[in-house]
Amino acid sequence: MMDFLTICAVILAFPVSSVLSQCLTTECAQNALALAYAYGFPLYAYGLYVRRYGNVTTNTLYHQRALTGAQFTGVVRPNADTVYSTTFVDLSENDLELEVPDFGDRYWVWPFSDAYANDVANIGSISNSTPGKYLVRYDQTNVGVQTEKVKGDYKAYLNIPTPYGIAITRILVKSELNDIEAVNDLQDQLNITLVPRYSPPVAPAFNLSLFNNTAFVPSANNSLAQAVLSLTAALAPYNEPEAPQDRTWVPQLLTNAGINLANNTWTQPSDTNLTAAQAAANASYNALSTLPSYTIDLGNNWTSTASSIQGDFGSYYQARYRTAVVGYLALTAEQVIYPSFPNLDIPADGAVLFQFSAKPKIKQGGFWSLTVYNSDQYLVSNTLNRYAIGDRSNLTYSDGTLVYGNGTDDADGPLEVLLQPNDIVPPTNWTGNWLPAPDGGGVVSVTLRWYGPEDSMTNGDYVYPKVTLIDAIRGENATTK
Ligand SMILES: *[C@@H]1O[C@H](CO)[C@@H](O)[C@H](O)[C@H]1NC(C)=O
Ligand SMILES: *[C@@H]1O[C@H](CO)[C@@H](O)[C@H](O)[C@H]1NC(C)=O
Ligand SMILES: *[C@@H]1O[C@H](CO)[C@@H](O)[C@H](O)[C@H]1NC(C)=O
Ligand SMILES: *[C@@H]1O[C@H](CO)[C@@H](O)[C@H](O)[C@H]1NC(C)=O
Ligand SMILES: *[C@@H]1O[C@H](CO)[C@@H](O)[C@H](O)[C@H]1NC(C)=O
Ligand SMILES: *[C@@H]1O[C@H](CO)[C@@H](O)[C@H](O)[C@H]1NC(C)=O
Ligand SMILES: *[C@@H]1O[C@H](CO)[C@@H](O)[C@H](O)[C@H]1NC(C)=O
Ligand SMILES: *[C@@H]1O[C@H](CO)[C@@H](O)[C@H](O)[C@H]1NC(C)=O
Ligand SMILES: *[C@@H]1O[C@H](CO)[C@@H](O)[C@H](O)[C@H]1NC(C)=O
Ligand SMILES: *[C@@H]1O[C@H](CO)[C@@H](O)[C@H](O)[C@H]1NC(C)=O
Ligand SMILES: *[C@@H]1O[C@H](CO)[C@@H](O)[C@H](O)[C@H]1NC(C)=O
Ligand SMILES: *[C@@H]1O[C@H](CO)[C@@H](O)[C@H](O)[C@H]1NC(C)=O
Repeated sequence: MMDFLTICAVILAFPVSSVLSQCLTTECAQNALALAYAYGFPLYAYGLYVRRYGNVTTNTLYHQRALTGAQFTGVVRPNADTVYSTTFVDLSENDLELEVPDFGDRYWVWPFSDAYANDVANIGSISNSTPGKYLVRYDQTNVGVQTEKVKGDYKAYLNIPTPYGIAITRILVKSELNDIEAVNDLQDQLNITLVPRYSPPVAPAFNLSLFNNTAFVPSANNSLAQAVLSLTAALAPYNEPEAPQDRTWVPQLLTNAGINLANNTWTQPSDTNLTAAQAAANASYNALSTLPSYTIDLGNNWTSTASSIQGDFGSYYQARYRTAVVGYLALTAEQVIYPSFPNLDIPADGAVLFQFSAKPKIKQGGFWSLTVYNSDQYLVSNTLNRYAIGDRSNLTYSDGTLVYGNGTDDADGPLEVLLQPNDIVPPTNWTGNWLPAPDGGGVVSVTLRWYGPEDSMTNGDYVYPKVTLIDAIRGENATTK
């Protein structure tokens, strides 16, 4: 019998098409338990999200009105570029009609994910979606954005493979003063209305209070693994796998793990060890990130996740699990890639220089930024209130001319970003290129965000920034606390 790691490697390497048969041994049930835990975990992450929102209901837009700042500690590694508008989607009895306003040249995406956080259908500036009406439907056969054979005045259908889902609209905030008011205005123009379907419901109405059920919340009497598996028993029977070839073997797997698909309950199979199953899932998750197929080497020690396992996972259940733990609701690589760099430890009198070979190559309608996080994974408090730097910043070349915003035909060439502690003010010619690190330095991490990356950003053509630890560059009035 294959061990769990082997199964994971197989799942990572090839979509599974084989049918797992009924378990006859404890070892089989034990493996099934580990895989079912990983399979169901995104449902648990969904519940965490709902509980953070509090008293919410389905098919309603909840708007984040301001950009995230250093005082915000709701989610780790927030972006400092866009606001979110969230909808908990229920397609069990009805379709949803969306109204999309005119966003002009601004980046936006309205991404629909299924119940397991597969980002299956995106409309937005990268795909040149136009203002107007769109219809969101439960459709397992034609998943994604459908533009052919669309009825009425809909621009497209968005076909989602599960009746329950989630949509988190992102809208870019520009650097202009008071732009947030224009963004709030656009948020108010987003609209969702229920369209009756005149066919039997495909699942019970999605009641978000379900996530408050004590059986689905870890506590002294209920381990995380118990909560995950109980919740999986409640929701998986109505929310099938995105990959059609998995819709036969996944129910068998869940059954082998003790889930009763008929009455939505989970009972731990006899003689299995739940702690060990969870540990196996975590071990495979850790091993996953070391597999060569998981990571793209972008050069100069920058890496990103392989695009086949970012945002929309198909049969790659281990990658789906890992993402639900570390980056729930990541978008597909067509929308954004997040090149990452190992953590940096900045001495109190040091700094980090990022030497960009040229402007990042971004499609029309996209944008880029470099964001720094402190050791708690939150934005860094600083006197400039600057949490990220990028194509909306007053970056200058070393001759002092603006990198962006100096006419339509801006020059291109090498540019430098200085990541330096907030308490060491650099000379004024660095101000536009200064990303403040914490007072006194310390361990930080950075994320690049390429929204709408051109192919050259992943195919080796673009030379990634060289990153060097240097002595701090002091301005004449620099102080050290
Ligand atoms: C879950 O419980 C919290 C705390 O009692 C409550 O504020 C919230 O409204 C509940 N959520 C739902 C979706 O019922
Ligand atoms: C929850 O929200 C609904 C509508 O948004 C409201 O009618 C209801 O009173 C709220 N419940 C609580 C406990 O706040
Ligand atoms: C949303 O659409 C409904 C139905 O067309 C309409 O009654 C409502 O005013 C619209 N809401 C917004 C915010 O545009
Ligand atoms: C949702 O579930 C809660 C708790 O079980 C219940 O009180 C509430 O009436 C349900 N709401 C609907 C609309 O069924
Ligand atoms: C948890 O278990 C303890 C001991 O069995 C019991 O006293 C307590 O009431 C239980 N708490 C809950 C929330 O079920
Ligand atoms: C669900 O079905 C199983 C198997 O028939 C049974 O053992 C269990 O008691 C049932 N649970 C509930 C809550 O009905
Ligand atoms: C269950 O597995 C855990 C972790 O592998 C181990 O520490 C524990 O002893 C096992 N429990 C039993 C009853 O075997
Ligand atoms: C990448 O990191 C390793 C280990 O820290 C280092 O030895 C190597 O020089 C780095 N390579 C580049 C191109 O920066
Ligand atoms: C860029 O510089 C202009 C002119 O000094 C200023 O108005 C604007 O706020 C600056 N933008 C940013 C993002 O710092
Ligand atoms: C600032 O001026 C120094 C000294 O002339 C130069 O080396 C450096 O490249 C300049 N930095 C920027 C961002 O223009
Ligand atoms: C804009 O570009 C021109 C030509 O390269 C240069 O002379 C001018 O100084 C630039 N202006 C700014 C504000 O960077
Ligand atoms: C340094 O401080 C002096 C006096 O406050 C001020 O005139 C000068 O502009 C400052 N220089 C810089 C680079 O900030």
